[in-house]
Amino acid sequence: MTVSTLDVERARRETPGTRNVAHLNNAGAALPPTCVTSAVIDHLQREAAIGGYEAAAEAHDRVENTYRAIARLIGCQTDEVAVIENATRAWDMAFYGLRFSPGDRILTARAEYSSNVVAFLQVARRTGAVIEIVDDDESGQVSIDDLRRRLDTGDHPVKLVAITHVPTQGGLVNPAREIGVATREAGVPYLLDACQSVGQLPIDVTDIDCDFLSATGRKYLRGPRGTGFLYVRRAMIDQLEPPFLDLHAARWTAPDAYEIRPDARRFENWETNYAAKIGLGIAVDYALSWGIDAIEERVTALAERLRNMLRDVDGVTVHDQGQRQCGIVTFTLDGVASQDVQQRLAEQGINVSVSLVEYARLDLSHRKLPDLVRASVHYYNTDDELDRLIHALPEPRR
Ligand SMILES: Cc1ncc(COP(=O)(O)O)c(C=O)c1O
Repeated sequence: MTVSTLDVERARRETPGTRNVAHLNNAGAALPPTCVTSAVIDHLQREAAIGGYEAAAEAHDRVENTYRAIARLIGCQTDEVAVIENATRAWDMAFYGLRFSPGDRILTARAEYSSNVVAFLQVARRTGAVIEIVDDDESGQVSIDDLRRRLDTGDHPVKLVAITHVPTQGGLVNPAREIGVATREAGVPYLLDACQSVGQLPIDVTDIDCDFLSATGRKYLRGPRGTGFLYVRRAMIDQLEPPFLDLHAARWTAPDAYEIRPDARRFENWETNYAAKIGLGIAVDYALSWGIDAIEERVTALAERLRNMLRDVDGVTVHDQGQRQCGIVTFTLDGVASQDVQQRLAEQGINVSVSLVEYARLDLSHRKLPDLVRASVHYYNTDDELDRLIHALPEPRR
């Protein structure tokens, strides 16, 4: 039995989707609680009833609450938060706001998210910046020794360290805080992709000492799709020029002049999905009401139980790395394509996903792995659902 202090029955009562599916695709998009869905629908109904602008004005405090909730969640100030439509665009607004010159070095790691790597490649092609992959240590997490060595040496300056905290394709948790210590000592900006960690692990940006952090709403936070946010350390806000500006991000002060906003909302744009933005704040408050420590404890215990059960199944290999692991569990089944495993489980009401090699070329290709089955647990999952997954697996083929 998984030990937990969390009231799982209440969590499931408040999550209608748990009655329909064993949802083990929380790293894709988690099931939202009723309070999130209701907040979104209520606002859409107000828009329909009184007008979109009028509903936004009426909901002003609920919209502002989203910034306050995010600030509480990650330990920052509200003026350091921008609410953006997803984690990728949030990350982009920081990354494309930096200026790179020929030879400038960008340090990243094997587990980096695919869209981030594509952005590095684009900027490298455009500017002559150079991408360097920091080695993994023997456990598979970013090697702090290799990071420090690269920060201390090289003919050109390191302009950015960009790391994914929890990769999409495995249970690894990268040592975000140790990276923060090293980057601070070197005086290099640090961009942390916390898309898969926010909501399942405690995150404190002061403790991690990152300059920028991006996250999404729909995964471990259980918020609506199409929501995300960016944290920018106050001292860095002025130093980043948003790649796009509009009349929300900047003020048009004279026919030939504009002034960029002084806070992190310079990375937002004017039109936004207010219903989803309100829903994100409700999701963050809901997560905080359970306690992120309690969520981590249960998620980690469920994932570890699942890994142990999978290791006992004939033909299954578990592929998660790292000294510290989280709620994402990846595995393969001998002779059966991961897509077929996913399909078989789906037929029995069990949602998992597949992590494609194409989306993790620095990692899965390097480890010579094929596409992986990804089962990602949340605190509302049960031991019974994990047992169902194990029993629903197809036979291995030799
Ligand atoms: C590690 C990581 N970063 C970024 C993203 C992108 O998030 P979004 O789809 O909200 O842009 C994902 C999505 O799976 C992810 O796993």
